[in-house]
Amino acid sequence: MKTPNAAPAAQKTAWPPAAETAALRAKHVLPLPGPMFARPIQIVEGRMQRLYDENGKEYLDGFAGVATVQIGHSHPRFVKALKDQIDLLQHAPPLYLHPSTGNFAKRLADKAKTVNPDMDCVFFTNSGSEANEMAAFLAKTHTQRHEFVAVQRSYHGRTLMTVAVSGQHTWRNMAPYPSGVAFAPTDYAYRSGGTPEESTRAALNGLAETLKTATSGRIAGFYAETILGVGGIITPGPDYFREASELVRKHGGLYICDEVQTGVARTGEHYFGIEHWGAKPDIIVMAKGLGNGYPIGAVITTPEIAASVKGLLHYNTYGGGCMAMAAASAVMDVVEDEGLAGNAAKVGARLSGALKKIKDERVGEVRGKGLMIGVELVKSAKTKEPAPELTAAVVERMKDLGVLVGKGGLEGNTVRIQPPLIITEADADRIVGALGEALADAA
Ligand SMILES: Cc1ncc(COP(=O)(O)O)c(C=O)c1O
Repeated sequence: MKTPNAAPAAQKTAWPPAAETAALRAKHVLPLPGPMFARPIQIVEGRMQRLYDENGKEYLDGFAGVATVQIGHSHPRFVKALKDQIDLLQHAPPLYLHPSTGNFAKRLADKAKTVNPDMDCVFFTNSGSEANEMAAFLAKTHTQRHEFVAVQRSYHGRTLMTVAVSGQHTWRNMAPYPSGVAFAPTDYAYRSGGTPEESTRAALNGLAETLKTATSGRIAGFYAETILGVGGIITPGPDYFREASELVRKHGGLYICDEVQTGVARTGEHYFGIEHWGAKPDIIVMAKGLGNGYPIGAVITTPEIAASVKGLLHYNTYGGGCMAMAAASAVMDVVEDEGLAGNAAKVGARLSGALKKIKDERVGEVRGKGLMIGVELVKSAKTKEPAPELTAAVVERMKDLGVLVGKGGLEGNTVRIQPPLIITEADADRIVGALGEALADAA
């Protein structure tokens, strides 16, 4: 794929040294979160899949600003769309009409018809957390119930309700939470001790048990990420979502499908990750890649569910604004015109295939779909003991080698590879080479 990769302009600006930037941030910005690396980097410019620091050092972006920069940094069509829009109108609240809101809502809902033909209504937010909050509001209003089931090791956001449905103790720092949330086990075949089929069966039995024992039996909804991203790219088996969503419906609940990381073609072949599983969500939650870094979230649902909030006073200042709509439309245009779902499938298959060939017993498992790949690192293949220090060292060393990737998992031992969907096979090979070298260096 042809990508413009002109020399960076970074050197033309007198940027402060990284240490000075870090000190200023440490003094004046809440330490939530701190910088990712032991030796932090300062990124001041981006061109497609490449990032540059203040000295013009180039990095291959294997993490896309945490699975967000779907079509690449400052893609020319994205830049033009935003510039054109800002020249005309930069903000108008939902109190006035602007054609872009309805147009993009229709476009997004039409895409969602592939997973549920009844999808037709969208509510726009500024983030994934806010979109997941909205999903809870919709589910509660529609069902007139308040209980939710979520999945252990999940992550759904940073607000009170979304932390309440996130299943990782490391993120659960905001107690007390809204009542009525229960957790079901994860379909995590690598750690379940059985075959992948047995793992799925155990997770589904666990969900049934949770519904029977930890709820009133009639719930508002079931939150599930299609692939658990922050939790370490944990990828449920092929039967999981079809059966889980049916089970949840039997208990009166809506299936809330969190596609914040898996949406916008990241998992390859399809626009939504859940298309790989053939399950039918009642509500789809999106953010991140939808705006390529421009803040936007979305909740997609059916007219019947949407009707339950009719007439209620509920408002956000920015949702569906013309700049966000220009950004999201440009992203969708590029994803379609450049065939990025196909590229994610093709390059992702090469990347996963090569990662699986790395001969190192500390590579416990390579998993995921398309360009959403996790490499779980362990102390030894036999014990499967998580190796968070090794993971931190590998990610840091890869950064020094010029390749940025992420870290995830409840135990902090999964390397997350979630690059812009425009990356080439040569880029994929560079990521694998850097990971292999970093592992060897950390021996
Ligand atoms: C699956 C999932 N849902 C929701 C969120 C929250 O999105 P945001 O950070 O935009 O609030 C995230 C963020 O990482 C996520 O990965």
